[in-house]
Amino acid sequence: MESVKRTKIKDLLKAEAGQEVLAKGWVRTKRGNKQVKFIALNDGSCVNNIQIVADANNFNEDLFKKITTGASLSVKGMLVESVGSGQAVEIQAKEIEVLGECDPMRFPLQKKDTSFEYLRTVAHMRMRTNTFGAILRIRSHMANAIHQYFYNKGFVYLHTPLITESDCEGAGQMFQVTTLDLENVPRNKKGKIDYAQDFFGKQTSLTVSGQLEGELGATAVGEIYTFGPTFRAENSNTPRHLAEFWMIEPEMAFYDIKDNMDLAEDFIKSLVKYALDNCYDDIKFLNDKYDDTLIERLKGVADTEFVRLPYTQGIEILKDAIAKGQKFEYPVDWGTDLQSEHERYLVEKHFGKPVILTDYPKDIKAFYMKQNEDGKTVRAMDVLFPKIGEIIGGSEREASLEKLEGRIDELGMSRTNLEWYIDTRRFGTVPHSGFGLGFERLLLFITGMQNIRDVIPFPRTPKNAEF
Ligand code: 4AD
Ligand code: MG
Repeated sequence: MESVKRTKIKDLLKAEAGQEVLAKGWVRTKRGNKQVKFIALNDGSCVNNIQIVADANNFNEDLFKKITTGASLSVKGMLVESVGSGQAVEIQAKEIEVLGECDPMRFPLQKKDTSFEYLRTVAHMRMRTNTFGAILRIRSHMANAIHQYFYNKGFVYLHTPLITESDCEGAGQMFQVTTLDLENVPRNKKGKIDYAQDFFGKQTSLTVSGQLEGELGATAVGEIYTFGPTFRAENSNTPRHLAEFWMIEPEMAFYDIKDNMDLAEDFIKSLVKYALDNCYDDIKFLNDKYDDTLIERLKGVADTEFVRLPYTQGIEILKDAIAKGQKFEYPVDWGTDLQSEHERYLVEKHFGKPVILTDYPKDIKAFYMKQNEDGKTVRAMDVLFPKIGEIIGGSEREASLEKLEGRIDELGMSRTNLEWYIDTRRFGTVPHSGFGLGFERLLLFITGMQNIRDVIPFPRTPKNAEF
């Protein structure tokens, strides 16, 4: 059977009719009558199936019994123009081999639409659905787009550690990494856990962000980005939070907050355009199946100029809205962090486009942000998106040694663990900036999915680390 080389279905669907081809894949559906059978075959290379037409007279009847939904096949035949509607070409089968049978009685996916919640419990079958096939392909394309974007700009891809001793965001949401015997934890003279006996000789955790290490890179080679998994033990059971998510963190020497905003806006628009140019079939599938405003929303963002607004003005707009009857679940006050309902109000109702909110109160932001002259705010920037809320968080960094140390002390943080970081301000400090884009938040936007668990192959959330 192997004399003809296998062609992926994605390429078959665009190929010239009139040639002998070999296709392999999984059966999506089978229909037909005593004379002729129609098999829809999919191999995951694209969302579309190729139709296999089999003249029943040419095949053993037992063969068709084994061709059930989910079974894997190898099919050799002629690629011919399709007479039926819906596809340009189909395969007139000459040889069919069942590679793997699939017992219809035990097959976990029934034809009736299965919920996303259910699909999360059957990891293997979930990936075989049209929806997750589309999401996995988009995810992979977007990872590629990100590397391409920074590569073309001459950024250095920096690999920051996953195991670290520092809590970059200072939110205390770290997963501890230890090889200590939890049944019999060693104690020191003071009765405290003796981390000197732990694997690294100190207390370590999984990283919440590669930024601090990224700043070392940027203040050495100029412009870097990281792209890797990050971990947060925040007990947030929301459609926008994961305990393990991927983050892209560019960090640039000699960039001020304005340069940082310009880069963030250009970056995310380029990614949306890339998705429309390179993943159109999959996006169209999701648009037509779940959310027919998706493509419109993507084009809207790609073509529009983002609003840039200080936090203080954002609060005024929200307070104004409340005075005019707008209801929010959480209160709005200067000094409190915005909830996603507030962010979405600004983006979706008030401005009707993405908003970059800047100059947040220092007390709700991390220690490393550049302090403004007013003594109350910092040069932070959050990019807020329709349907999502915060998609990017970033800032200009505090470049002054004195001010940085002052803030660390003010917050009661330990300087000893951070000396390696503070050194960047001691020896040739420079203005610099950066931001973090949550990869799954980006994918939520691009796919139009409702729940962040459904844009990552194996979601990790509180009380859930299956597979
Ligand atoms: O705003 P965050 O916490 O910022 C940082 O970590 C900075 N160190 C970034 C930087 O300046 N280099 O996180 C950045 C982004 C958020 O805007 C959001 O998109 C995403 O990471 N994010 C999450 N995504 C999924 N699940 C979670 N639990 C997330 N927490 C943050
Ligand atoms: Mg943030």
